[in-house]
Amino acid sequence: MQRTLEDKIAIVTGGAQGLGQAICERLAAEGCHVVVADLNLEGAQKTAAAIQANSDRRALAVQVDVRDEASVERMVARAVDVFGRLDILVSNAGVLIAEAIQDFPADKWAFVIEVNLFGYFLCAKHAARVMIPQKSGVIIQINSKSGKKGSYKNSAYAASKFGGIGLTQSLALELAEHGVRVNAICPGNLLDSPLWVHSLYKQYAKKWGITEEEVRRKYIDQVPMKRGCTYDDVTNVLVFLASDQASYMTGQAINVTGGQEMR
Ligand SMILES: NC(=O)c1ccc[n+]([C@@H]2O[C@H](COP(=O)([O-])OP(=O)(O)OC[C@H]3O[C@@H](n4cnc5c(N)ncnc54)[C@H](O)[C@@H]3O)[C@@H](O)[C@H]2O)c1
Repeated sequence: MQRTLEDKIAIVTGGAQGLGQAICERLAAEGCHVVVADLNLEGAQKTAAAIQANSDRRALAVQVDVRDEASVERMVARAVDVFGRLDILVSNAGVLIAEAIQDFPADKWAFVIEVNLFGYFLCAKHAARVMIPQKSGVIIQINSKSGKKGSYKNSAYAASKFGGIGLTQSLALELAEHGVRVNAICPGNLLDSPLWVHSLYKQYAKKWGITEEEVRRKYIDQVPMKRGCTYDDVTNVLVFLASDQASYMTGQAINVTGGQEMR
């Protein structure tokens, strides 16, 4: 049976771990050849090796710093050299640093914007340079529910993600005539991801003087569907947006939040 994204060529940034790794694996399962791009080359190589071992798809690990234009340009050039074209760009690499505004070091605030917003701009720019002459392509940004609603003591992250939606809408307008669609996905809290398991539960438990299990419960209770977001919840929507089934959709920022965000 023909897979949904048979023989498409995809780049996924931040593919070494977490959601990005799950996106790489899912795209391969749907028929894509995948460029796994990350600052962490060793992690990217592990993701790529697992895809090559477990599927009939090709996977290429590339080191990239999405904040650095020359590095992003090399990543896209490498994909085109090896695979001959670029059909899907997933801008997933992201960082989160949360501080109260009066204590927020300015360089850390700028760093979050550089990775999450400027990095998305650079990746979209160099992908567009390939997709415009092809007259086809799909750009998908992994945004967040924090791109729709302010986030407490998390101003840099929310500002970067709100900006990402402005960029998504603007690029959608600009690239529509070239046959390139641009959309964002806004997931809720991925409560089993490394970000939560290795860092956020511990931080919040300490801050509020409660157990890690109580922190998890508190976040689940904020969701009308009473569970955390899973990688499958996100990748199901991503495959749809990347496919021709979404051929009339561009400039959208789709919530995948179990009802927690509705705008
Ligand atoms: N975890 C969540 O609860 C959650 C919720 C909503 C949205 N998101 C978004 O999903 C995306 C992935 O999040 P995650 O939780 O899997 O994060 P993660 O921290 O587990 O993984 C992020 C990856 O990005 C890479 N990266 C960081 N800076 C980079 C740079 N400058 N250049 C290239 N690669 C870089 C890291 O090496 C890492 O492999 C992010 O955009 C994040 O904002 C996450």
